[in-house]
Amino acid sequence: MNKQKVLVAGASGYLGRYVVKEFVERGYAVRALVRNPEKLATDGPNLEPAVSSLVDEMVRGDATDRASLKEVCKGVDIVFSCMGLTKPQDGVTSEEIDHLGNRALLEDALAHDVKKFIYISVFNAEKMMDVDIVKAHELFVHDLQSSAMPSTVIRPTGFFSDMGMFLASARSGHMFMLGDGKNHVNPIHGADLAKVCVDAVESSEKEICAGGPGTYTFNETVDMAFEAVGKNTWITHIPMWVGDAALFVTGFLNKPLASILAFAVSVSGLDNVAPATGTHHLGDFYRELAAKEETKQ
Ligand SMILES: NC(=O)c1ccc[n+]([C@@H]2O[C@H](COP(=O)([O-])OP(=O)(O)OC[C@H]3O[C@@H](n4cnc5c(N)ncnc54)[C@H](OP(=O)(O)O)[C@@H]3O)[C@@H](O)[C@H]2O)c1
Repeated sequence: MNKQKVLVAGASGYLGRYVVKEFVERGYAVRALVRNPEKLATDGPNLEPAVSSLVDEMVRGDATDRASLKEVCKGVDIVFSCMGLTKPQDGVTSEEIDHLGNRALLEDALAHDVKKFIYISVFNAEKMMDVDIVKAHELFVHDLQSSAMPSTVIRPTGFFSDMGMFLASARSGHMFMLGDGKNHVNPIHGADLAKVCVDAVESSEKEICAGGPGTYTFNETVDMAFEAVGKNTWITHIPMWVGDAALFVTGFLNKPLASILAFAVSVSGLDNVAPATGTHHLGDFYRELAAKEETKQ
């Protein structure tokens, strides 16, 4: 029997690599859509695996060049997309990537009779619609759900990769944190979220919210990072209004950076606890990442 083929857009990113691995382990053939195929040959910065040896095919495509996304869905049964703007790119907006790039993929998927489109948006989106990235995600969710394409939208909390940066601060011995750090979050490991993503192929749910098995205050997530590097926690809390003011100024000086920071500022001001799944714990992730970084030094 022929394997089902899945196009993974965003395959070189933190989540994308785990999703490639999970699809392959469950017997799917994977076509990876990437800007730079070489990236798949090495591990990522937050322990995410190299996957170039797992994929059946690689195709190059860039969301800012929508012609490059034409025909990428030819012969594909399922499209999974976590293609998104998470770091500032010169002159590029989340509207261009998260919304219009994914819309171009959807148009190609419709033209090639793809059976299902699975998309990663964000948890608590309705509370953050003033944030460019969230708005762009949700504009695409609207396009997807109003099209004829069967779909599931996954809404995860923060990824462990996002918490990885706390480790760098902990190593320096000090960290600034927006707000009082008392809001709660249940961050999720890429491997745990990948299982939810692949399960979504057979799911009839239109939307699935997912977080990891451990719920912590933001302060506790930072405590664990300090513990992993063997240092005492030292956090300076910054009032939320300072973050808002800094964002306002950054908006004039560096719009792409402000757009990414706005997401972090909004998330810091909310509880982000989604239905729990998975087996990976944040403390173990920090310890593993800290040990890997030590061997590099
Ligand atoms: N991180 C979180 O805590 C979190 C939480 C909820 C939802 N999400 C959403 O989940 C998705 C994946 O997040 P992640 O942390 O795995 O992000 P990531 O590691 O930055 O991966 C993003 C992927 O999108 C690709 N991409 C970016 N710009 C592109 C472009 N112009 N054309 C084609 N591909 C492009 C990247 O390719 P390159 O490798 O070439 O850059 C990469 O493969 C994002 O949409 C994000 O908003 C993230």
